[in-house]
Amino acid sequence: MSKSIAIFGAGPGLGQAVAHRYAQSGYEVVLVARRREPLERLAEELAAEGATTHVVTADLADTEAVPALAEQVRSLVGELDAFYYGAAANGFVPVLELTPERVREFMPLGVYTLLELVREFLPAMLSRGDGAILSAQGASALHGNPRVAGGLALAAQRNYLQALHAEVAPKGVYVGGLYIGAAIENSAWHVEQERAKAAGESFWEVPSVAPAHLADLLWNMHNARDTAEAQYVR
Ligand SMILES: NC(=O)c1ccc[n+]([C@@H]2O[C@H](COP(=O)([O-])OP(=O)(O)OC[C@H]3O[C@@H](n4cnc5c(N)ncnc54)[C@H](OP(=O)(O)O)[C@@H]3O)[C@@H](O)[C@H]2O)c1
Repeated sequence: MSKSIAIFGAGPGLGQAVAHRYAQSGYEVVLVARRREPLERLAEELAAEGATTHVVTADLADTEAVPALAEQVRSLVGELDAFYYGAAANGFVPVLELTPERVREFMPLGVYTLLELVREFLPAMLSRGDGAILSAQGASALHGNPRVAGGLALAAQRNYLQALHAEVAPKGVYVGGLYIGAAIENSAWHVEQERAKAAGESFWEVPSVAPAHLADLLWNMHNARDTAEAQYVR
């Protein structure tokens, strides 16, 4: 029986690359995001490469809907062998504009939904003694950045993943966080920065990285299982 992975946040940047990487290794792939049409295009691409894929639309900011979402995923592939979490809120908030209300807006995608997904899928991984939980987030999780104050939710997520890794690694389940300080090619953000640059508007001058390279990093972390996190900062 093939293994399965769900891509929570299956977009044109890293999400699709992770889907391709795992599909190449024989995983059945569940693609999750809000918009059906881009997911269906990605599913067609993966199917053309021989992968079995499923499309599920969901708003991951709605933490209370996670149990029903998890049930839908299980009805398609059974218990997951792995999941990737890469849906993120736009954290580009100047630190002086941060308010308790804005922080509350960052928490569902940053922390609560991932936590709920773990509560749904980890128990079966633990009973099998195998599984993987992967997250890719911005480098603002690592260091406070006055232009990206939304990073505080990612710092909380990172702390949680570190604790989870320490708890479940000895029980066979891998938990890994990848923190990225570069523009991911083909992502909506990178496309927008390139457009702004071409139009002579202000843009962020940051080095870019191929999503396939980051997907390989996650794949290698998952297989080596020797580190709780990695950074790609340029
Ligand atoms: N892009 C960059 O240059 C960059 C740089 C550093 C770090 N990162 C981080 O790396 C990770 C991957 O980024 P990426 O830009 O490459 O992403 P991506 O895989 O291109 O796209 C992620 C997808 O998540 C979906 N999504 C967003 N909010 C959602 C929600 N509330 N519910 C369900 N799905 C949702 C979006 O699709 P729908 O709109 O259809 O829902 C989006 O296409 C993220 O954590 C990001 O913060 C990105």
